[in-house]
Amino acid sequence: MIEQSVRVARVADIAPGTATVITPEVSGHPTPIALFHTADGFHAVDDTCTHLGASLARSKVVDGEVDCWLHHGRFCLRTGEATYYPARNPLQVFPVEVRDDEVWLVPGRG
Ligand code: FES
Repeated sequence: MIEQSVRVARVADIAPGTATVITPEVSGHPTPIALFHTADGFHAVDDTCTHLGASLARSKVVDGEVDCWLHHGRFCLRTGEATYYPARNPLQVFPVEVRDDEVWLVPGRG
């Protein structure tokens, strides 16, 4: 969970259809966060796959779900729910706001 709002990127830094890793040094969160720019906006979830630890920012997004590149477990980007084997445990999600041309992680349920 993010304790206070933190600016993590500029919108222009993350092309639509791509993602980046937000490091703990930037976010203040103890583990890396994957920030995806999808057709319906920005989504932030744990970067570390709950199956065997692959970086999810390297993965594709299909129908609102991140499809882990290593074993193709899937997770809903909106809820973090594991939706396809071998993924079983959910990801933490982080609320995101776009303010002008900046992307912020904000406190909230995650
Ligand atoms: S490491 Fe992601 S599905 Fe196995």
